[in-house]
Amino acid sequence: MKESLETLREEIPDRIAHCETGPEIEHLRVEYLGRKGKLTLLLRGLRDLPPEERPQAGEQLNRLRRVTEEQIAARLAELKGREKERILSEERVDITLPGSRWERGRIHPLTLVMDEIIDVFAGMGFEIARGPDIEDDYHNFEALNMPKDHPARDMQDTFFVSGECLLRTHTSPVQIRVMESRKPPLQIIAPGAVYRHDDDATHSPMFHQVEGFMVDSDISFADLKGVLTHFIRQIFRPETKVRFRPSFFPFTEPSAEIDIQCVLCGGEGTSQEGQTCRVCKGSGWLEILGAGMIDPQVFRFVGYDPEKVSGFAFGMGVERIAMLKFGIEDIRLFFQNDIRFLRQFR
Ligand code: PHE
Repeated sequence: MKESLETLREEIPDRIAHCETGPEIEHLRVEYLGRKGKLTLLLRGLRDLPPEERPQAGEQLNRLRRVTEEQIAARLAELKGREKERILSEERVDITLPGSRWERGRIHPLTLVMDEIIDVFAGMGFEIARGPDIEDDYHNFEALNMPKDHPARDMQDTFFVSGECLLRTHTSPVQIRVMESRKPPLQIIAPGAVYRHDDDATHSPMFHQVEGFMVDSDISFADLKGVLTHFIRQIFRPETKVRFRPSFFPFTEPSAEIDIQCVLCGGEGTSQEGQTCRVCKGSGWLEILGAGMIDPQVFRFVGYDPEKVSGFAFGMGVERIAMLKFGIEDIRLFFQNDIRFLRQFR
């Protein structure tokens, strides 16, 4: 018994020191302290000793068991600490490496132009109003002085939804909705999507308009000219020439179409090589707005007295203005969402 104890006392610390992994230590623990472990068996053998030797041998064996348990725990802690250090040094993240970059999104060119248009009118005190994309016949046509059989309805190839419902063909019904619910003075712009059965390089079945109107007791055509000329010179170049040309809309009288000097040829009508300008087709002018003095008949529909109030209204196509500003030749590019196209605008 004594010799076995001596051997164990010498070999155990040595063996523990040679363990390099958790499982190795566990193996060792079982070998000495397990149910059939060497130390356990010695302890069990105590009962075979003569009674007078038992206390001393028992004490020594128990101490060895305690010391062994402590040494195992210490070695285990040491190995864990080393492993932790290894992970820290080998698996370190180098935070000085540049990260991968997120591609930053761009604002859609139509939104850019729409915001710019709204900004110019906000600067003149106009307020924004909106109306529904699905309109009724009354607001889209009837109250704008286009009765059921009016030929002007053919100018706008309408998408009908059902019964009296249709997709609005212009933003002018917002004039009616605002005037129905409010009293002058009014100074409103109404941006939004509109729909027409039309589809080619310059027409899209869905496009955008900005409507504007001003109603008060004493609004004249001069106010219309002033507001629109200022607007055009803010959106295009400050020296842009503007032309007001007589036209017809059922809901304005008198009516006008407003042209600007061609953005490409500067009004010459020809390119520098002497060829007919492909943007203005040689005329030197580009139509960009429809406008006029609000027709007395429209005022009657919304319950205003045409003897007491007057006003002007105008409407423009946002895609057309964006195409002229950015030199885009096909309207369909706006809606194909080709990232190479969209990336170009800021
Ligand atoms: N609503 C007309 C159109 O879509 C434009 C317009 C608006 C003309 C207001 C005059 C006054 O063509």
